[in-house]
Amino acid sequence: MAIFRRQWVLPTPTDSSPQTINLPNRNLTLVQSAPSQIIWAVGGGKGGIGKTLLTSNLAIFLSWLHKKVIVVDLDLGGANLHTSLGVTSSPHTVGDLLYKNIDNPNSLVQPTQYKNVSLISGSNDPINITNMPPIQRSRLVRKLRELDADFILLDLGAGTSVNTLEFFLLADQKIVVVTPEPTSIENAYRFIKTAFYRLMRNATATPYIRQLIEQTMEDKIIKGISSPKELINEIARLSPSEGEQLKKTMNELSMSLIVNQVRAKAEADIGKSIQIVSERYFGARVNYAGFLPYDNSVWQSIRKRVPFLIDSPNSMAVTHLEETVRNLLKQNKP
Ligand SMILES: Nc1ncnc2c1ncn2[C@@H]1O[C@H](COP(=O)(O)OP(=O)(O)OP(=O)(O)O)[C@@H](O)[C@H]1O
Ligand SMILES: [Mg+2]
Repeated sequence: MAIFRRQWVLPTPTDSSPQTINLPNRNLTLVQSAPSQIIWAVGGGKGGIGKTLLTSNLAIFLSWLHKKVIVVDLDLGGANLHTSLGVTSSPHTVGDLLYKNIDNPNSLVQPTQYKNVSLISGSNDPINITNMPPIQRSRLVRKLRELDADFILLDLGAGTSVNTLEFFLLADQKIVVVTPEPTSIENAYRFIKTAFYRLMRNATATPYIRQLIEQTMEDKIIKGISSPKELINEIARLSPSEGEQLKKTMNELSMSLIVNQVRAKAEADIGKSIQIVSERYFGARVNYAGFLPYDNSVWQSIRKRVPFLIDSPNSMAVTHLEETVRNLLKQNKP
């Protein structure tokens, strides 16, 4: 089924009748409807680059496409997704799944003021939750799949902690956010590389291969291996069938990149460069989905605790977000 749109019908929080908004230069847009229950995770190596901002606005955009969306704050210890959606208090948090023995994750979901966008707030209980044992993490991951929605969007914390990487890898679409600063680019490469290593580690059960992957992950230079691609080549030499399997796993991966806070056209090209470098040196494709300009209306909307799609629907950021979402939807595997 396809959805044809000529203009956006934007439900406002204050008015129950829909408000029609014509966005600039909008042509007929075709959006393929997604297969049921898709998880998108939004991560990235660095803090303050726009992961939460993108998660909340992606959610609003998908809801405009008549999708039922649940956003989950998995920035354990630094939860603030609720604020970006104008939610001030949460009776439940994701921590309740772990510590209150709640079985049905849908009972933790609370509505937002935006139609079809609901939320599971994050827990700000860093002591217990950031050191989550693997068994609890697996349960949480399983429970997320039980949520009743077309799209589940996970807002992740910064960095490459095991929790963050595992949540990132569980998603059908793994979105990496990067800004054009050198520190952010460096962290994005580290994040992508570590995610690839972890994916490979999780995909193999053969003890000596797993050990080789773990040693490489610890930055030990074994047999001159310094990248996921070299690691796969070495594994293929040791065990051709494992090598083939890992190559397949890497090829089937859906990872996308969004460049945020772009101030000049050349900065957006960083997305293409990261895509090329990842393919060449990491041995897996990172699809460059699009960029968002640095836009005053974006940070102004954050101060008002309103997603910029709602607060400033005719801004350049919205035009670019639309293109980015369209590219992300194309990546959805049936
Ligand atoms: N496109 C943009 N234009 C203008 N300002 C932006 C843009 N993107 C992000 N910002 C600014 O960056 C700030 C940080 O955004 P956000 O909280 O989404 O980052 P984050 O990656 O989730 O951070 P953390 O890792 O701490 O959770 C915003 O409050 C906003 O001021
Ligand atoms: Mg955040």
